[in-house]
Amino acid sequence: MKKRIVLATGNQDKVKEIVEILKNPDIELLTLEDFPGAPEVVEDGETLEENALKKARVIFEFTQLPAVSDDTGLEVEYLNGAPGVYSSRYSGENATYADNVKKLLGALQGVPPGKRQARFRCVVALYSENDTRIVEGICEGEITEQSRGNGGFGYDPVFFVPAQGCTFAEMDLNVKNKTSHRAKAFLKLRNLLENKEFKF
Ligand code: IMP
Repeated sequence: MKKRIVLATGNQDKVKEIVEILKNPDIELLTLEDFPGAPEVVEDGETLEENALKKARVIFEFTQLPAVSDDTGLEVEYLNGAPGVYSSRYSGENATYADNVKKLLGALQGVPPGKRQARFRCVVALYSENDTRIVEGICEGEITEQSRGNGGFGYDPVFFVPAQGCTFAEMDLNVKNKTSHRAKAFLKLRNLLENKEFKF
């Protein structure tokens, strides 16, 4: 019989991306759409790990099924790792992506190209009553001096990936989804599931 896992995210773009990566004949992947009334989880932890684990645990408690969740942060070296766990609300509680990008470019104004290193770090938690696993995926890059490109979301227009020679917002979405921090973290989870290392 197939094992069931619930994806604890309401973001449909992420759902599509993750379903594609985790395809596995032994696993049935459910989403929050299958569980009307699932609680909204407040991401108020001090680390990405805390937030990912909290989301997975709350959804496990509601569904009684193993739940998987992710939390991502942009860590900028010059800013000592900020905005990090506060990436989505860097310029305030109801900040738009554009507000956050503007604040970031302002914080790095005058900082020369060689000192603008940053990385996206995605932490994924898989939680059940018998086991808990945390894996992470990292994508290294640099913050540009201006926004470039129209694709993607969040900080994509200012996140330059040297390996691809463009920002995430300029990159073909299929390429981004195969090489991103999230892809790397979920690939690790896939390996763990394929190797039957997780105790459901
Ligand atoms: P979340 O925890 O995955 O929702 O990510 C938190 C914040 O990080 C988002 O609101 C975005 O601003 C940013 N973020 C996460 N993943 C990406 C990405 O792939 N590109 C650009 N920004 C991202």
